[in-house]
Amino acid sequence: MPEAWSPESWRTKPAAQQVAYADPASLARVMEEMGRLPPLVTSWEVEALKAELARAARGEAFVLQGGDCAESFDDCRSDSIASKLKILLQMSLVLVHGTRKPVVRIGRIAGQYAKPRSTDTETRGDVTLPAYRGDLINRDPFTASDRAPDPVLMLRAYERAGLTLNFIRALTDGGFADLHHPEYWDVSFAKDSPHIAQYQKIVDGIRESLDFVGAIAGADSAVSAVLRRVDIYTSHEALALPYEQAQTRTVPRRAGHYNLSTHFPWIGMRTAQLDGAHVEFHRGIGNPLGIKVGAAMTTDWLLGLLDVLDPHNEPGKITLIARMGAPNVAEKLPPLVAAVRNAGRQVLWMCDPMHGNTETTPSGIKTRRFENIVDELEASFRLHADMGSRLGGIHVELTGEDVTECTGGARGLSDTDLERAYKSRVDPRLNYEQALEMAMRVARHLRP
Ligand code: PEP
Ligand code: CO
Repeated sequence: MPEAWSPESWRTKPAAQQVAYADPASLARVMEEMGRLPPLVTSWEVEALKAELARAARGEAFVLQGGDCAESFDDCRSDSIASKLKILLQMSLVLVHGTRKPVVRIGRIAGQYAKPRSTDTETRGDVTLPAYRGDLINRDPFTASDRAPDPVLMLRAYERAGLTLNFIRALTDGGFADLHHPEYWDVSFAKDSPHIAQYQKIVDGIRESLDFVGAIAGADSAVSAVLRRVDIYTSHEALALPYEQAQTRTVPRRAGHYNLSTHFPWIGMRTAQLDGAHVEFHRGIGNPLGIKVGAAMTTDWLLGLLDVLDPHNEPGKITLIARMGAPNVAEKLPPLVAAVRNAGRQVLWMCDPMHGNTETTPSGIKTRRFENIVDELEASFRLHADMGSRLGGIHVELTGEDVTECTGGARGLSDTDLERAYKSRVDPRLNYEQALEMAMRVARHLRP
């Protein structure tokens, strides 16, 4: 029998990547307040997503999960949110067209404010301070007061997440995501993008199909109504456990607890220890869960995680997000896919082609090469297909803006271009053009 679970039972386990707050009373006040405030999402939505993920695991849908590596409070602006929404919608349109399947859209958004770090401190000259861990934990400027963890930032993160979600919900409910009006998602600087003509062709094709449906079924039909709205779900790495705990609660007419800070929390590579606090926390919530699976993952470890996190083998419950690095896929992925299948596990496999392909340029800039990202994706599609398995989604770090953080792509960005518009404070993201190009490459693999 597993020990009793509660939203705070994780405190009895070793917790990686956590910070010590200097003023526990202030932390307790913040958590109490967050627990009283309304949830960001509802259990209905969480269960609806779980059902969608179960469909994707059966091959009846494809999942697109994307957004910032780290959201920042400053970026909680209408243009930045709208452009992320636009690129997700454009990519999903390309994927729907390619796969002829529904696409489930999940934004790394409205909560992606805490980051794991490989070292606890940062040293500049002879000054050593705590590392910056995301806006939910501390502040980026290199001063002692900015880098001190501040519990009030948890509350600011919850509020920013609420503002972000409110805007997304208002846009999608108001018709912004209507498939009949893809022109709403046009991006002003994309006019001379290398892939824009191909994208436009897809848009025109879809418009024609919609006109056809409208003519047959009527513009006010149920089919047309469905096409008028899309759901956008949210996800983030559930890293800062006090934040996640504070929004975890029971709801009327459903059993158990839900983490209502997001629809889809995931466990990162650095916090997936079987006996650790993050696994303990996640085993007790009803949300669907993502687990990052890196090259260091063993079959025993992975099967152990599935036993703890999904004892009932529930459809849609577990998504395994492989992030191997292009050179490791061929060796590391097949044994894991085989072991999961042989254990009779129904999981959804996704590919995160970003985090295993990070490198540093000779001049010290963190980047990722588009070719390696696409290589990992293509190798993963092939491997799953060869094994009679299925890659049911992709997880990417992107922005809808014209940044230069990853090299390559149709415009052939080089290391020297990186200096032009590098804005990420953590990992390099695909820019608008690279994200769209990736969707087209993926769609080619998924054509029925
Ligand atoms: C991330 O997705 O931002 C991340 C840190 O990933 P991973 O845990 O896979 O390194
Ligand atoms: Co990242």
